[in-house]
Amino acid sequence: MSAGELVDVVVGRITPDGERVVLVELLPAGPHPLPPFEAGAHVDLHVGGFVRQYSLLGSDDDAGRYVVGVLRERAGRGGSAAVHDTVRSGDRLQVSVPRNTFGLDPEAEHSVLVAGGIGLTPLVAMAERLHREGRSFELHVFTWSAGTLPLGAHLASRPWRDRVVTHFSSAGDSFRGKAPAVVPRPRPGLALYVCGPLGLTASATACASALEWPRADVHVEHFERSAPVETGGDAFTVVAASTGTAMAVAGDETIAEVLRRHGYDVVLSCEQGICGSCLTGVVDGVPDHRDEVQTVDEHAANAQVNVCCSRSQTPTLTLAV
Ligand code: FES
Repeated sequence: MSAGELVDVVVGRITPDGERVVLVELLPAGPHPLPPFEAGAHVDLHVGGFVRQYSLLGSDDDAGRYVVGVLRERAGRGGSAAVHDTVRSGDRLQVSVPRNTFGLDPEAEHSVLVAGGIGLTPLVAMAERLHREGRSFELHVFTWSAGTLPLGAHLASRPWRDRVVTHFSSAGDSFRGKAPAVVPRPRPGLALYVCGPLGLTASATACASALEWPRADVHVEHFERSAPVETGGDAFTVVAASTGTAMAVAGDETIAEVLRRHGYDVVLSCEQGICGSCLTGVVDGVPDHRDEVQTVDEHAANAQVNVCCSRSQTPTLTLAV
């Protein structure tokens, strides 16, 4: 399947697991197994006109189902509420093919996994994988209290539960105070993975940087941008490789807006360069990357561009649309 295709799924069990969190099981809607996924991957879930990203829990060799953990956001834009309030077992939904912008380093000898709140979900899939491969890891989960721990029952059911260390801010054990103890000094074979709210990921990144961790060994997934995205700039031309159509992108437009206006299908969700829904192949030209999804190496390779926010360094950018 191509990255832009949607997969039909049927909702299986819906299980509450923590304050404001439900685990939603997604099963194949037809005879074919679901596309495989890697630990750390997420899907776009289409519900009630919303498109939201949810990391896949569970084992990446389980082609029979996906499981996502959905936190009802108190100040959200409606996507998580739509899942909690309207989705029921037996419903048919659509998801994207899994994408992974937060993959495991296959060479690491020991992995330090650090989660803030519901940022736990991709790290659970990583822990599952590391355990299955017999590799060393520890998983730190930071949350307000035992009552707000997401996926507590799921964690307690895992054979690797003794690798989990919970930290509760209500008991004075917050990441801000604990970072130096949780983020070790770098050494060859050590990898650090952090997923959670911006305060936690920024603090972890600053701590790793102060300890002089190599950038390639620090893997971070954000819920929010570290700085507001600037989408404007000089005008340029986008060319659709499939048709040769040339389209002018004005200084105050995004590539996605122009593509949609010309009838090209673009999947958008966050529209601020943090989810990866809009990643589009680059055939020719050099993008001006403004996303926080792709890695430094991926930006240097220029194989894909986030069309919701990025622009072009070259007068013309030819895209695989
Ligand atoms: S829509 Fe989320 S990165 Fe572009």
